[in-house]
Amino acid sequence: MSLPDARLLDESPGRLRGLAPGKLNLFLEVIARRPDGYHELSTVFHEIDLADEIEIALAPDSDDHLACLGHPLDVAPADNLALRAVRAFRGWNATCPPCHVRIMKRIPPGTGLGGGSSDAAFVLDALARLTGSTPPMEQMHRLARDLGSDVPFFLAGGSAVGRGRGDELEPITDLPRFTFVLALPAFSLSTATVYGHVDLIEPRADVSSFVEGMRRRDARGTANGVNRLERAACVVEPRLARLLEDFRRRSEAAWRMTGSGSALFAMVSNREMAERVARQVAPLGSAEVHVVRVFVRHPLEGT
Ligand code: C5P
Repeated sequence: MSLPDARLLDESPGRLRGLAPGKLNLFLEVIARRPDGYHELSTVFHEIDLADEIEIALAPDSDDHLACLGHPLDVAPADNLALRAVRAFRGWNATCPPCHVRIMKRIPPGTGLGGGSSDAAFVLDALARLTGSTPPMEQMHRLARDLGSDVPFFLAGGSAVGRGRGDELEPITDLPRFTFVLALPAFSLSTATVYGHVDLIEPRADVSSFVEGMRRRDARGTANGVNRLERAACVVEPRLARLLEDFRRRSEAAWRMTGSGSALFAMVSNREMAERVARQVAPLGSAEVHVVRVFVRHPLEGT
């Protein structure tokens, strides 16, 4: 599904401003290494209301240009996923004019929250709307997948089971609205490096029973969720191991990593508990602690 939805903040001819929400991996099991260098996953993506803000303007007679505020980028502007998405869209529709993109990065790069991937999906949707030419769904999915494994999820957002590289998606429509405490450490992690250290472990955790537990609001079931990349991330970044240990010792909540890290989250039953847990971990060395909920793209259809 594409714009307009709750991501769209405002729009004028040739210009559009909106939100690119982040995600949590509530569950992430690594099934196998693939011959193409990727790993076969089963994961649960859940879109959250911590979001980058993006403005994109068509700028004929100019060049593509990116300006970023907020959290610093971890790659050169030309390699940023938002500009790569502009070029990918132009690869499909050669008449797409040059674009000026401004991003307020509220989602720090290298934290497993999918900020760059969400920016890229937003740009694809925005250009479809601004140019009045929307790629067929399969083509849009291909453009997204070629930009990164998490980008297809952000085309529809919400909650979904991801399989394959994470790009084979099955929407989950009937989850209760959970509250999360999110901690953003001051350091980032490289996805490729973390995957390079992963151990494949049997028996594998089962994504279907995890999703069933969430549907029943089964706190114990969901606390038993897994992120198979967590141990690898702790080997790559010992500060993460120490932070997780401190969080688990000093707070009443069950903490897990999202994606390939470095961000950590705890799923809690209500806002009051979230604020208590946030206070418990705030002094433990994380740069930022937020309380977040699911991002609802279509409020009237929400649960
Ligand atoms: O797809 P994306 O560009 O986000 O992936 C970055 C890196 O993460 C890949 O080059 C690969 O090393 C690793 N990865 C993986 N298996 C996945 C997703 C990512 O091994 N399913």
